[in-house]
Amino acid sequence: MAASVTKIAYQTMQQGKSLLGIAHKQVSTQLMDLVAPKANAETIPIRAETLQALRTSMDYLLERDWLEAEQGLYPTSQLFDAPWLDWMLRYPLVWLDLPNIWNRRLRRDVRDLPNNVDISNFPDYYLQNFHHQTDGYLSDRSAELYDLQVELLFNGTADAMRRRILKPLKERLSRANLASGALRILDVASGTGRTLRQLRGAFSSAQLVGLDLSNAYLRQANRWLSQLPGELPQLVQGNAEALPFQNESMQAVSCVFLLHELPAEAREAVLAEAFRVLVPGGVLVLADSVQLADSPQFQPVMENFRRVFHEPYYRDYIGDQIETRLSRVGFTEIKGETWFMTRIWCASKPEIG
Ligand SMILES: C[S@@+](CC[C@H](N)C(=O)[O-])C[C@H]1O[C@@H](n2cnc3c(N)ncnc32)[C@H](O)[C@@H]1O
Repeated sequence: MAASVTKIAYQTMQQGKSLLGIAHKQVSTQLMDLVAPKANAETIPIRAETLQALRTSMDYLLERDWLEAEQGLYPTSQLFDAPWLDWMLRYPLVWLDLPNIWNRRLRRDVRDLPNNVDISNFPDYYLQNFHHQTDGYLSDRSAELYDLQVELLFNGTADAMRRRILKPLKERLSRANLASGALRILDVASGTGRTLRQLRGAFSSAQLVGLDLSNAYLRQANRWLSQLPGELPQLVQGNAEALPFQNESMQAVSCVFLLHELPAEAREAVLAEAFRVLVPGGVLVLADSVQLADSPQFQPVMENFRRVFHEPYYRDYIGDQIETRLSRVGFTEIKGETWFMTRIWCASKPEIG
């Protein structure tokens, strides 16, 4: 009885999020058409059957999200883990920021970054306004709005998509007999810490480490994560292409929504670094956008995403063979699965001998 009430609450909340996300996108696009029509990108119309396929795969994702919580893979409370008050207070800032975004789009300026940033600390590909975000990833203002913007973009399903890494990770770790001992999990490109929160719920006694290039995003992660019970994850500023960790120092590595924002060679370097820091038998889980090979029916949606948001490496990413890259750097037992707009890969570092 209690379970079905919770399930209905979860489904209702997700419906509400979805409606808010759709309404936000429609109203902001209409406003842009009115105020700054030249800033609007030309998009491909999405056909009714594609919309239906999106709805069906979203429902399937949410059903699975509920099921895995019920099976105890993570606490049911995680399904409701959202800073609602904070988001409500920040929502007006998303609107107030829109003219800045339109202006940059009109000027075709994708390198409008804060003046106080020492650009020599970052790879060139990083110094851009991904998604036309004000300040790129390089300010507290950007970090404070990021989660809310992602929720609006994905109609409230971002966390459900991120959580799809937990089951394959748990299963692989137990199979490799790594789940019972001391467990150290590194989340690469941890951003504001959403995946670290989920890992904390699913692996309550693991030692968690988050790494990101952005100090501002790490500060935001620190603010969110310090509200959780348990040990605060270690948060480290660094480049995923040159991880500041010793060889074979992690039992697991996760990496969520990073690969599509990297040029191909950086993508491969990140996978090679994940391999290096894993112990033999260690597990890598990746979550990122779906690709053309696994979700050809969503090709127009992927194309529109690239046109509307500044995503300079996305076109290359959606045609990239991540499995080939994983096996080239040494991973085995590579498995992929698709959930709504997200592709999940799980791979293992071979045991010695
Ligand atoms: C799209 S966000 C994803 C963040 C987070 N994983 C999530 O699920 O919300 C990409 C993140 O990758 C970080 N990033 C990009 N390139 C990086 C690199 N080379 N090394 C470390 N972090 C990087 C950015 O600072 C940003 O926080």
